[in-house]
Amino acid sequence: MSDRIHTLSGYFHEYQKSVTQPEEFWARIADSFHWKKRWDKILEWDFEGPNVKWFQNAKLNITENILERHLFTIGDRPAIIWEPNDPEEEGRTLTYSDLYREVCKFSNVLIEQGVKKGDKVIIYMPMVPEAAIAMLGCARVGAVHSVVFAGFSSNALSDRIDDCGAKLIITSDGNFRGNKTIPVKAVVDEAVARTSTVESVIVYQRTKQEVVMKEGLDHWWHELMDGKAETHLAEEMDAEDMLFILYTSGSTGQPKGVVHTCGGYMVYTKYSFENVFQYSPGDVYWCTADIGWITGHSYIVYGPLLAGATSIMFEGVPTYPHPGRFWEIVDKYKVNQFYTAPTAIRALQAFGTEPIAPYSLESLKVLGSVGEPINEEAWHWYHTHIGKTRCPIVDTWWQTETGGIMVSPLAGITPTKPAYATLPLPGIHLAIMDTEGKELSGNSVEGNLCVKFPWPGMLRTTYGDHDRCKQTYFAAYKGMYFTGDGVKRDHDGYYRILGRVDDVINVSGHRMGTAEVENAINEHPLVIESAVVGYPHEVKGQGIYAYVICDMKNRTEANLIGEIKDTVTKIIGPIAKPDKIQIVPGLPKTRSGKIMRRILRKIADGSMDSLGDTSTLLDPDVVDKIIEGKV
Ligand code: WTA
Repeated sequence: MSDRIHTLSGYFHEYQKSVTQPEEFWARIADSFHWKKRWDKILEWDFEGPNVKWFQNAKLNITENILERHLFTIGDRPAIIWEPNDPEEEGRTLTYSDLYREVCKFSNVLIEQGVKKGDKVIIYMPMVPEAAIAMLGCARVGAVHSVVFAGFSSNALSDRIDDCGAKLIITSDGNFRGNKTIPVKAVVDEAVARTSTVESVIVYQRTKQEVVMKEGLDHWWHELMDGKAETHLAEEMDAEDMLFILYTSGSTGQPKGVVHTCGGYMVYTKYSFENVFQYSPGDVYWCTADIGWITGHSYIVYGPLLAGATSIMFEGVPTYPHPGRFWEIVDKYKVNQFYTAPTAIRALQAFGTEPIAPYSLESLKVLGSVGEPINEEAWHWYHTHIGKTRCPIVDTWWQTETGGIMVSPLAGITPTKPAYATLPLPGIHLAIMDTEGKELSGNSVEGNLCVKFPWPGMLRTTYGDHDRCKQTYFAAYKGMYFTGDGVKRDHDGYYRILGRVDDVINVSGHRMGTAEVENAINEHPLVIESAVVGYPHEVKGQGIYAYVICDMKNRTEANLIGEIKDTVTKIIGPIAKPDKIQIVPGLPKTRSGKIMRRILRKIADGSMDSLGDTSTLLDPDVVDKIIEGKV
């Protein structure tokens, strides 16, 4: 059963209902799922704790809603279509029946490995169907998965293993990415050696490169799967049991483990998927994200599969072996809904329209954008050259913490405006706050974006540190969830996201905490102090600009800059590598020693004439010296 909205008046009607009678509204949506036991109470909440419980005492297993529910109706429909990195390699299609069988077999593998309900399992894998099978296997046996993007370094991986106390890791021998082969298993070996909780590592063979398999610790995926029973009775989970932890960056040095729970996340991802993308049975849907990010969780795996959709999973990169690869895949599988990030659009835009020319793209009905504000130029290019002005663009605003899309047009229903995420989904009560804590009502206002009522897909806590969750999201504005984003509501009541207002930068749609990058830079023995800011970057949206005070010893600047970049790659991973590093004699600080990032941000984006008053700085001259040495 689908709860799809079909008209604009239908949207306004549903929205109204969701605000005035949220419990009745969500009960109706939740009714279409398979619950082993129905809830006693729809919602209990306070944003002080915070304490949020949806579908109290309901019992379910999310994989029954993906597998058993579809087995006898659409068992032959492709669930996952996999397109490999190399177009010469054969793709794979897993129907819902295939997926059922593979997930059951893998659940039996997990049980054999001693994994029990509540155990933490880290998934560090390439974009292969086995990554989704691993996630669903965990969910089926009640283990909590934590997918770590396979571009993170062994340091970043071991931090996450330690933070959640992971018992098992699922990985691959290597990853194919464009023309590179990445030795993934070696990264895992290093991380495991530094930690003490991991009891076994399951290795999916992808590249067939040489790896070290430690007796008693490492096991091949295919050997464990061999001969396993093809059924597995799903564990009964409480609606509020943890489904997964996903680490994300914030304004402090350490990434935090955002916790999502089984019932609410299930209801919210399916509902938002069907409505935003206007998915019809039989459509082929493709989201280009990586499963290491929330977009991959909610809109490659859970949302689409709960809706019985066909979801494409692509292992490669947009430009390999040529910059028309995305469009080739769209034509190959007759993709109807295509969901990607502005950074990918801008990167492809740079190649002009020639790479698109050989492809018809006529199957496309809906285009989506996620991860960062989409600039108007990219929006128009996407709309004209990919959507042929025929396909609505859904600019979807949401976060790891929100679990699913919060503000977005419903495809073909909500009139769009370039660069606007438009209107909130039903169930989402937004508020715009000024810096004094006052809500700005009415239209034509700008401020900080908050949510004032719970929604089923929201985070429940940050793993192992509930107070951090409270301080980060629920303390800035009493009784509200604070998103960390600035927003404008225009004269039509449409929302335009303006970007982060905290010390988080968004690099190619990936969140990086400036403090996290600074900590990594400071690991270099010759670095004395550093300050990192974001600056506008043509392709990445924001680039990373690092101001660093160093003890030069007898290094050249170029040498030192190279070493600092390597240090960041080692500590976090290549995604955090600064685009620009400037060695500076000092940093602009207030008399109390606080770094004036505002000034550094202005210098990085070239707005030297609007630096404001610098006379109150500890050493005002340092600003001139930094401007002189700008890179
Ligand atoms: C930004 C990704 C503008 C925003 C799903 C948010 C966006 C952060 C949009 C979350 C959008 C995401 N328009 N900004 N359509 N989508 N953002 O947790 O700053 O990786 O706070 O979740 O990305 O990033 P995250």
